[in-house]
Amino acid sequence: MICGPIVAAALPSSSLLLLLLLSLTRAGSTALGRPVEIRAAVILPAESKFITTLSKVMPVLDIAVRDLYAKGILRETDVTFRFMQKDDKCEDIEAMRSGFELIINGRVDLFLGPTCDYGVDLVARMIKFWNAPLLTTGGFTNDFSLDKRDPKSKYFLLVRTGTLDFQDIADVVVSVLNRYSWKNVLLVYDIDGYWRVSGKQSCGLMTKTLVEMFKGNSSIRYNAFDLAKNPQNNLTENLRNEVGSKHTIVVVDDQQVRVEENHRASGERKN
Ligand SMILES: *[C@@H]1O[C@H](CO)[C@@H](O)[C@H](O)[C@H]1NC(C)=O
Ligand SMILES: *[C@@H]1O[C@H](CO)[C@@H](O)[C@H](O)[C@H]1NC(C)=O
Repeated sequence: MICGPIVAAALPSSSLLLLLLLSLTRAGSTALGRPVEIRAAVILPAESKFITTLSKVMPVLDIAVRDLYAKGILRETDVTFRFMQKDDKCEDIEAMRSGFELIINGRVDLFLGPTCDYGVDLVARMIKFWNAPLLTTGGFTNDFSLDKRDPKSKYFLLVRTGTLDFQDIADVVVSVLNRYSWKNVLLVYDIDGYWRVSGKQSCGLMTKTLVEMFKGNSSIRYNAFDLAKNPQNNLTENLRNEVGSKHTIVVVDDQQVRVEENHRASGERKN
């Protein structure tokens, strides 16, 4: 299989935002009658080549807040919102630096983003010390699917709103293999494929998730081919070389003959 499209998760809907904000609004307006200010860090890439960017998300947040007021769910006199944006360039260190900068310069009640996996990893490991939840449409790697309910767990307070992650995609692939009793798998991947979805090594991490699954099943034979090994060849040629010789089976009179062996045999004959 080729590391293919990853469905981009929808932006947080206003109802989800509400749920989170309600839990953050500890006590309604302050004693002085001033509204409570919810301070949310929005850490996303700015560059438009990415799926989730500051310029796409900021208007959605405005709409969500206006919706809360318009529907009378919250009153502007009780709760206001302040969104502090930072461009993380879809890089882990930039995401981390943005988080620290905001925390040092004032209170942060909530993180929206990062969305790129390596950035999510770094920031989401810190939030339990900062006592601020992190809401992201990213975080596809299977590490993020681990149980997060224990306050000591690595990603405590991380909330992923996406509908699909690498583990789900791997589950689908394994179901298809099981359904057709396919047991011989070649993973062809471009390690940095789909960078615009979840940053560096998006396809590499997807492949890693699949490999973890295949390792657990002794009846599946798998191999992985990194396209960077043969950059001079295009995909067609790589598939011909890799699949053609090592991963095909020809059925002759109900007997499965591995092409690999045929090739070797004919090669020997030639020599
Ligand atoms: C392993 O794979 C085979 C063939 O795809 C399938 O029949 C079997 O149920 C799988 N076993 C596990 C433990 O998933
Ligand atoms: C891939 O390379 C081969 C050989 O150079 C060429 O014939 C073929 O058209 C190329 N395919 C694509 C999709 O570029």
